[in-house]
Amino acid sequence: MPETIISASILNSDLADLKGTAGRVDASGAEWLHFDVMDGGFVENITFGSSVLAAVRPHSHAFMDVHLMVTHPQTQVKLFANAGAQMITFHIESDCDPKAVIDEIHALGIKAGIAVKPKTPVAEIKPFIDAVDMVLVMTVEPGYGGQGFIHDTLGKIREVRDLSPDKYIEVDGGINRETSKLVREAGANVLVAGTFLFRAENMEKAVGMLKE
Ligand code: DX5
Ligand code: ZN
Repeated sequence: MPETIISASILNSDLADLKGTAGRVDASGAEWLHFDVMDGGFVENITFGSSVLAAVRPHSHAFMDVHLMVTHPQTQVKLFANAGAQMITFHIESDCDPKAVIDEIHALGIKAGIAVKPKTPVAEIKPFIDAVDMVLVMTVEPGYGGQGFIHDTLGKIREVRDLSPDKYIEVDGGINRETSKLVREAGANVLVAGTFLFRAENMEKAVGMLKE
């Protein structure tokens, strides 16, 4: 299993200063930058589109990790790939042909991930696990940053790890010093963190805490 990667979610960062955020994340040792794309349909909230990623891209050395929380992911894949996305993850609960979306992402030369909400069983994504590079197990209901970790999701992380010993397994929502240990023990190796990193006095130390 690859070692732990930290993906910094910009959702709860200072959105008026994404350039500064990109620099701080680079300096913190977090390897990935996580973009939460919400369309006001799949989830209530609306965040940002591919033009925001394109604007941040030149100011960051991080791996660009895009999390699509949208009803029609196929409309966004090419736009985000062209903007500089290196991983695009979409939800199994969205309205799409999952295999076609995975193939389209791969055809654009980037990595593909599939996401499950806390209440969606692993069985739903099982047919697609071999085709993807990453499985994202949501550890909160998608929609907002700053929510509490749902402990029931730990079993699901273990289930996915058993099915895919060498893939990226990402967790997203409520990750802090305590929950990071639980998800890593369960088999997760990509930890998305928003609030914990952006509220920390020292982001580099906070990244260290998530990995220790
Ligand atoms: C929730 C988002 C998460 C969120 C994580 O829908 O997908 O990426 O930003 O934020 P924290 O770490 O604050 O729970
Ligand atoms: Zn996310």
